[in-house]
Amino acid sequence: MCGIFGYVNYLVEKDRKFIIDTLINGLSRLEYRGYDSAGFAVDGDKKKEVLAFKEVGKVAKLRQLVDESKPDLTKVFDSHVGIAHTRWATHGPPSRLNCHPHRSDPTWEFSIVHNGIITNYKELKTLLESKGFRFETETDTECIAKLAKYLYDQNKGIGFTDLAKAVISELEGAYGLLIKSVHYPHEVIAARKGSPLVVGVKTQKRMKVDFVDVEYSDDNTPLSAEAASQNVALKKSSVAGGLLSPNGLLGAPDKSLLHRSQSRAFMTDDGLPMPTEFFLSSDPSAIVEHTKKVMYLEDDDIAHIHEGSLHIHRLKKADGSSNVRTIQTLELELQEIMKGKFDHFMQKEIFEQPESVVNTMRGRLDIGNQTVTLGGLRSYITTIRRSRRIIFIACGTSYHSCMAVRGVFEELTEIPIAVELASDFLDRQAPVFRDDTCVFVSQSGETADSLMALRYCLDRGALTVGIVNVVGSSISLLTHCGVHVNAGPEIGVASTKAYTSQFIAMIMFALSLGEDRASKQKRREEIMEGLSKISDQIKSVLSQDQKIKALCESTFRNQKSLLLLGRGSQYSTALEGALKIKEISYLHCEAVMSGELKHGVLALVDENLPIIMILTRDDLFKKSLNAYQQVTARSGKPIVICNEGDEEFSENQAEKIEVPKTVDVLQGILNVIPLQLIAYWLAVLEGLNVDFPRNLAKSVTVE
Ligand code: F6R
Repeated sequence: MCGIFGYVNYLVEKDRKFIIDTLINGLSRLEYRGYDSAGFAVDGDKKKEVLAFKEVGKVAKLRQLVDESKPDLTKVFDSHVGIAHTRWATHGPPSRLNCHPHRSDPTWEFSIVHNGIITNYKELKTLLESKGFRFETETDTECIAKLAKYLYDQNKGIGFTDLAKAVISELEGAYGLLIKSVHYPHEVIAARKGSPLVVGVKTQKRMKVDFVDVEYSDDNTPLSAEAASQNVALKKSSVAGGLLSPNGLLGAPDKSLLHRSQSRAFMTDDGLPMPTEFFLSSDPSAIVEHTKKVMYLEDDDIAHIHEGSLHIHRLKKADGSSNVRTIQTLELELQEIMKGKFDHFMQKEIFEQPESVVNTMRGRLDIGNQTVTLGGLRSYITTIRRSRRIIFIACGTSYHSCMAVRGVFEELTEIPIAVELASDFLDRQAPVFRDDTCVFVSQSGETADSLMALRYCLDRGALTVGIVNVVGSSISLLTHCGVHVNAGPEIGVASTKAYTSQFIAMIMFALSLGEDRASKQKRREEIMEGLSKISDQIKSVLSQDQKIKALCESTFRNQKSLLLLGRGSQYSTALEGALKIKEISYLHCEAVMSGELKHGVLALVDENLPIIMILTRDDLFKKSLNAYQQVTARSGKPIVICNEGDEEFSENQAEKIEVPKTVDVLQGILNVIPLQLIAYWLAVLEGLNVDFPRNLAKSVTVE
């Protein structure tokens, strides 16, 4: 929900203006993740001095604060660490005090930015208060900064990594964090557990060693000669952590802290330290304009950047997770995270759908040969086919996409399918077995409820599959196998293109699973044929944009409520449309399963209540028409989403939005688009900021 950004220059001269601009620019790229306050910390004018700026509101207000404060922007730093944060409040309301960075003490010996929640912060706070610390904020984060100072004071001379390990070993909960300290000038610690962090590296000259996999050994024995020859040094930690523990205050020391570490030094051809810049972020979209060379940290990684080297240490022994960290090349272009000619990211992403769905299918769907190849599932398909059941687990829009494909999975696989809201699934502690396949669908791959449900299923031995958009995200790392949705970065808080791409990724998954059934071949071919046309059909729906805008102006504005009716798989379209309308335009909108109308909701219907009915042709069309008759018989005037040229709905009979006809199981992809546009235009016409809906932010990383 919040965004972290850090900038480190080593042997690269930069003035304070550049450093502050870089931090603020990084924050504005992350603003979609949280925007109720923002702040940063940089070095002050004197040695061991920190300059911190914090402001409530959007990043632009932080920029204004800096302009008004007039710091000396000309001061030049040869090596420097700056850390920044944009906040979405969880503990304590938005205020300058609660805004990050947080400090250990009034002189900012330790400054911290943090995403996630420290669940044992109350215990830590009580302990630290008993040691004389006075807390000034309502946040959980502040205890990390104070704990760092406490442990530092107790262990003068301790190295930054060892101190960080000791601090982090006392934390429970989730964190992505950066620590800056006046005691370790030009060094920074980045650590993650359950909250993403990416390190970008930019060297000033060509590197002597190309980027290679960074590998650790589990037992602190040296790595291969090859690795050693590539300036990969192994370090041994000197502190076993649990520094509070000797007092018996927070449990026994954790022996598992003596662990692996791995470093990567960037050297010039002459073997001298390489002038290097590092960009640390919770999201690669803030890094891509600086460098495409990135390393994703994994849970329990502690990265220490020091004199141009990137050292990765582990807090815990390997638990089956990879011991290789690769410096990867981001496949992300700056224009993908810019609005371009559009007014809002949401609008851009709605209009990107003709391409994003093609990107989801690219290299996977071969129409000529009637095959679907999902590389990430290849070795698991047979096991999945043998599952006792497939459980789809997700939240919000991602949950709706699972609902939308349940029918086609049942039809093509003949395996029992369940669709679960992650939070409810966990609340019920639903039974999960070793022969279940659990599919986690998530745009961000970081949603806390889905992540917790994933860990729950892993603990019970189920096979786990990720259907995830963000590469390198926690869900994509933790699942056994999966499919990247490849919709491209989704910045708009309201999910649009991720929904249609998830839908298509899961259709391809169902097609793969059904491949071994001759009886399903014809149906599979029909669906593949439908997929091959879907992009052009989306374009045709989008061409009605201005008509939909006019409809919003004439019919839906100034209404208090709106009903959205659908049946069968179109119920999930109705749910998704209602969610979009609620979250962006704040108009109450209720999705109703058409078959349920007569069981109560019909009482709401009169000539005034705006109603949208999804009435595209499928096997349930006749039944859906019953609901239409019930509404019109009560003087209701529904707006109908129907197939092009459907004579059932004459011009004067109903206001209608026509969409092309496709295979029944794909129709939801086309039907949802007018609803996305309605949500968008309703919000714009109300003067609302579509990309920053109130009380919401992208990626819900809290329970
Ligand atoms: C709605 C929306 C949310 C997300 C939900 C799950 O437009 O975006 O409902 O779908 O928070 O997020 P992911 O898919 O990232 O797990």
